Amino acid sequence: MSSINALTAIRGRFLDIQNTVAQAHDIHGQVRYVEDGLMITENGKIRWFGDWKNGQHHLPAKIEVAHYPDQLIVPGFIDTHIHFPQTEIIGAYGEQLLEWLNTYTFPTELQFSDPAYAQKIAQFFVQELLKNGTTTALVFCTVHPQSVDALFEVAEQHQMRLIAGKVLMDRNAPEDLCDTAEIAYSESKQLIEKWHGKGRNLYAITPRFAPTSTPEQLQKAGQLKAEYPDVYVHTHLSENKNEIAWVNTLFPEQKGYLDVYDHYGLTGSRSVFAHCVHLEDDEWNCLHKTNSAIAFCPTSNLFLGSGLFPLKTTWDKQVKVGLGTDIGAGTSFNQLQTIQEAYKVQQLQGNKLSAFEALYHATLGGANALDLADKLGNFNIGKEADFVVLDLNPTALQQLRQSKARGLEDSLFALMMMGDDRNIHRTYVYGQCVYVKASTSTQ
Ligand code: GUN
Ligand code: ZN
Repeated sequence: MSSINALTAIRGRFLDIQNTVAQAHDIHGQVRYVEDGLMITENGKIRWFGDWKNGQHHLPAKIEVAHYPDQLIVPGFIDTHIHFPQTEIIGAYGEQLLEWLNTYTFPTELQFSDPAYAQKIAQFFVQELLKNGTTTALVFCTVHPQSVDALFEVAEQHQMRLIAGKVLMDRNAPEDLCDTAEIAYSESKQLIEKWHGKGRNLYAITPRFAPTSTPEQLQKAGQLKAEYPDVYVHTHLSENKNEIAWVNTLFPEQKGYLDVYDHYGLTGSRSVFAHCVHLEDDEWNCLHKTNSAIAFCPTSNLFLGSGLFPLKTTWDKQVKVGLGTDIGAGTSFNQLQTIQEAYKVQQLQGNKLSAFEALYHATLGGANALDLADKLGNFNIGKEADFVVLDLNPTALQQLRQSKARGLEDSLFALMMMGDDRNIHRTYVYGQCVYVKASTSTQ
C-alpha cells in the first residue's frame, strides 16, 4: 500500500448527497452530480472536490490522475449492522430467529475462542466488505475478546473506519459463549482502552439482546457507557414476535422491550438498534427523544420471516436509520442487493423507496445514524476519502437496461435493482485503492 501522505487524484462522474435532511422529499434537492469531476485527497481526506475544469490548476505537478470516464463514483457504502463471525452461516435453512440462533449461530460462534480462526474469518470478512464497496460497518464480534482484536487488526491494515465490540451474554446461551456481568464489564473496558479511537477504529458496547443478558449485566453495560460516553451501544430490538413476548416475561417490571435498554442507560445518539420491525408507538417516541438510531436489515427480515420494517415511520417519527446487511441472517454483503430487498419491503407496505433515498440511507444517512456524518457519507471537503467506483454495465442485461435509462435517477434505480458485487469496480478507503475487481468480459 502506498503512503497515506501521498496525494491521490480521481477524475470521473461523481454522485452524492450534500446534506442530511429531515424528510425524504428533501433529498432530491441535495443530490450533487458532477458529470466530469475531480477529487484530490491528502492524508486520507478530501482536499479538493468539484468540476474537472475548475480543479485542474489545483493538481500538483506530475500527479497521476486515476480516470474513470465510464463509471459512477459514489461515497463508500455504510453497513450499520453486521456480524463478522456469522459469515460462514449465510443461507442456513428453515428457522426463524430464536431457533436459528440455537441451531446455527451459537455453535458457529463457539469457534471464535481460537484466535487463529478468528483472524482467518476476520480477513475473509473485511475482504468481502471491500469487494462489495462497503467502507464502514458497525460489527458484532463474539463474546471472545480475541475476536475483537482479530477484526480491529485487519481493519487497521486497511485503515478502515470500523466500529465493533465484544458480545455480552450471561444467560440463555451455551455456557462456553457466556461471560458474567463482571467479566463483560472488565473485558469491554480493556477493549475500549485498547481500540476506541486507535486509528479509525471505534468501540461499541454490544449486549447481544435483552434475553441473553441478566439485569445485572445490562446495568454494568450502562455503567460502562456512562464512563465512556463517546463509545457506541449496539444491540438488537423487536425483530421477532416470539422474541418480544420472551422479553416481556424476562423483564416484567419494564414497560416493553426498548424500555429495558432505556432503563439501563443504553439509549442515546450513539446507540444503534438492529431491526425494530415491531415497535410500539411509545418506543418510536423513545428512540426519537433519545436520538437513538435503527439499522434496517431487509434481507435478514425477509430471510428469517421477521416482518416488514416501516421505513416511512422513521421520517414521520424523526428517528435516524441506516441500512444493515445483518450477515449471517442477511443473505448478502452487498448494499445494492440490500437496497433491492428494501425497495420490495417498502412496496409491500405502499411506500415508494426512491433511488436517491436509497443512496442516502446507504451513504450519508447511514453515516448520520452512526453519528459520523461530520466525517463520512459524501464528498464534502475535509471528509474522509472513502468511495466506490461503480461499473454500470458488468453484464449484457445491465448494459441493455442502462442503454434505455431515462436519465440519472432511472439509471441509478436500475443499477440498484439489478446490481451486485459485479458492479464494484474499485473501492477506495482513506484515499487509497484497496480493492480492484478482476477483469472479466461482460457476462
Ligand atoms: N438477535 C440476537 N442475536 C441475533 C443475531 O445474531 N442475529 C439476528 N438477526 N438477531 C439476533
Ligand atoms: Zn444481527
